Amino acid sequence: MLEKLNGIEKAALEALHAVSDEVTLEAWRVTHLGRSSPLMQVFDGLGALPKEERPAIGKRANEAKKILETALGEMSGTLRLAALKRSLEQEQLDVSLPGRPFPLGRLHPTTQTLREMFRVFGDMGFQVYRSREIETDEYNFQLLNFAPDHPARDMQDTFFIKSSGDRGDNPLLLRTHTSPGQIHAMREFSAADPDDPPPVRIILPGMCSRYEEVNARKDIQFNQLEVLAVGRGITFGDLKGTIADFARRMFGQNVRTRFRASYFPFTEPSAEVDVECFLCSGQGCQVCKGSGWLEIMGCGMVHPVVLRNGGYDPEKYSGFAAGIGPERVTMLRYYIVDIRYFWTNDLRFLEQF
Ligand code: DAH
Repeated sequence: MLEKLNGIEKAALEALHAVSDEVTLEAWRVTHLGRSSPLMQVFDGLGALPKEERPAIGKRANEAKKILETALGEMSGTLRLAALKRSLEQEQLDVSLPGRPFPLGRLHPTTQTLREMFRVFGDMGFQVYRSREIETDEYNFQLLNFAPDHPARDMQDTFFIKSSGDRGDNPLLLRTHTSPGQIHAMREFSAADPDDPPPVRIILPGMCSRYEEVNARKDIQFNQLEVLAVGRGITFGDLKGTIADFARRMFGQNVRTRFRASYFPFTEPSAEVDVECFLCSGQGCQVCKGSGWLEIMGCGMVHPVVLRNGGYDPEKYSGFAAGIGPERVTMLRYYIVDIRYFWTNDLRFLEQF
């Protein structure tokens, strides 16, 4: 019987050499350690053996079982390691492969236009001045020479901020234009030396809001770029020269400009500026509606009342101002037919710039 057990053990261990994967290993386990395996049959037959043989045979049978179980465990580990190695080899990382490209963001078309304007005015010596988007009625209207019942206020349908409580005739509001920044800037500059305030040469970009019906040409939020120059002896000639130079640097060396008389409460005289259509070079096209001209800004000589409100004596100082709509300029440059595209964040639109 002991020899039979030796044989069972030897045969099983030999058979284990032929095992190459988990499936054949499981088959091996059933054959050699399973319920009807030769080894288990030895256990089953122990009771039928003469009493004195049982301990030795039983001991040997247990020993053989343990040896086979240990061999099974080792083989299982070996197979798992081999499988892992194979899969790692298949997944090998090729460090010479190019990386995955990340999609690049880009500047909003209005930002691009604004930055170009910063560059052009920067070259002409203008500094960027930032001013608040929430204003008081005083700064947005009163100090800019809009009387409380001035009809020009109808031009500006305003978002008032109700939660600011009752501030009488000086409610908080979302600025309807960047012009109130003129007062902030002049007051800041003149405070430095009230008797002989320094010259001002600034551009003032930023968001404005108007309570308007939204359509393809008008939105309730938009940018403006305010231009302001104040100092001694500044004339309408300086205004014309600066604007004409700006137009040439912005739209092309040969672009012409023309000034049409207009009205704004904070400038006198006031004008609207047209540039020769840079799409058709003045020939007349759809964008300029056949006229050859595009209206791009309002401007004028700073009103004496506004100068005084800013701390500049209009007897000694003068200045010019202008207001440009960067969205409008962007629309003209790229044939954008609907101003609402600027705020809908549609990538199909934004990715074109
Ligand atoms: N603030 C004016 C508006 O929103 C634009 C404007 C016109 C600004 C003439 C100026 C200016 O500085 O001189 O319609």
